[in-house]
Amino acid sequence: MNINFKELANKYKTPYYVYDFDHITEQYTQLKESFKARKSLVAYAVKANSNLSVVQHLGNLGAGADCVSIGEVKRALKVGIKPYKIIFSGVGKIDDEIREALELNILMINVESEAELHRVEIIAKELNKEARISVRVNPNIDPQTHPYISTGLHENKFGVDIDTAKRMYIKCKNSEHLDAVGIHCHIGSQLTQLEPIKESIKIVADLVRNLKAINMEISFFDIGGGLGIVYDNEILIDTKEYAQSVLENLFGLDITVVCEPGRFLVGNCGTFVTKVLYEKINGSKRFVIVDGAMNDLIRPSLYDAYHKIEVLGKSENPSECNIVGPVCESGDFFAKNRELPATEHNDLIAIYSAGAYGFTMASNYNTRGKVAEIAFENGQDRLIRKREVFEDLIALEEEFIK
Ligand code: LLP
Repeated sequence: MNINFKELANKYKTPYYVYDFDHITEQYTQLKESFKARKSLVAYAVKANSNLSVVQHLGNLGAGADCVSIGEVKRALKVGIKPYKIIFSGVGKIDDEIREALELNILMINVESEAELHRVEIIAKELNKEARISVRVNPNIDPQTHPYISTGLHENKFGVDIDTAKRMYIKCKNSEHLDAVGIHCHIGSQLTQLEPIKESIKIVADLVRNLKAINMEISFFDIGGGLGIVYDNEILIDTKEYAQSVLENLFGLDITVVCEPGRFLVGNCGTFVTKVLYEKINGSKRFVIVDGAMNDLIRPSLYDAYHKIEVLGKSENPSECNIVGPVCESGDFFAKNRELPATEHNDLIAIYSAGAYGFTMASNYNTRGKVAEIAFENGQDRLIRKREVFEDLIALEEEFIK
């Protein structure tokens, strides 16, 4: 990435997110290539970064979309991703969302409980349709990641156990309105260990074979997302080994592999750039106060997540400080006890690996407008979301004041 953050700051002001689209292309291509021995669909997990231009870029490369709300489904459709490449997942789908997903004729709805399967059947019947579904299996495997982004244990709310999954497939077999086309499993996010993935894939593949034995052919084997990225000095899962561990379990099965990466495709491609406002010392504690805040990038506050941070153009004599934003919360920080050089008003600070779950988790807390988003592609920058202004923030309230 050879992005001139300073030039972008002059042109678009700060804070901003910038995404390296060429890097996104590389990530997508690497993963897709790893699965080249099979029919595969890389369905981008839109929740990681749902900017229309990002989704469109991945769609143009051939990606499908893994969505967790009908809003995300509509984003994918809006930028030209075909319905037959769109998956709708999520533990609590609303009736209207299920209805719309069926009407839009997407590839499949990933169902996460018996009760939900029942709702899907009722709604499909009302519409006189056959709903294409997959069941999300919870294999009860510890993914060895942060507890907040771990989803593959029975103590987590996601998916159903194997016995329930079997019952659900039998129900589909006996229903005119349910067509079980897929099987799904996602054990967690920011995974850096292959072993838990391997174990869960084996469990799910065994179920596929059991279903085949009772004449239920599953066409899509959805292994979820979760591939980790570098925030600090993580050793990553090799995508070829990842693919290999999936493929070796599918021997003899005519099945398309689906994966749902979010962070892997966009995480390392994004940087959040913010500007130093002030420095101060409280007692002996040094604070660097910047114009970005937890409402723009909440990962450090929410998960105590580590992001690499650099003061652009300075590296001399670093000393410990907390890098904090203007929001009125003690939890508003980007890093604590981090070594940074002395800064001055208007110095730029880059916070790396912010392309996934950065902007999408932003809020308007403290009536702060969401920041600008910029794409960088082929050496050129372009705005892909305007910075929000005060008028945007009050637009839906204004008419109600007396
Ligand atoms: N598929 C399903 C069913 C998921 O729940 C998720 C993420 C993904 C795919 C994509 O996972 P990825 O490839 O990005 O790891 N906000 C948290 C991450 C939450 C992940 C939620 N589910 C963070 O900032 O770390």
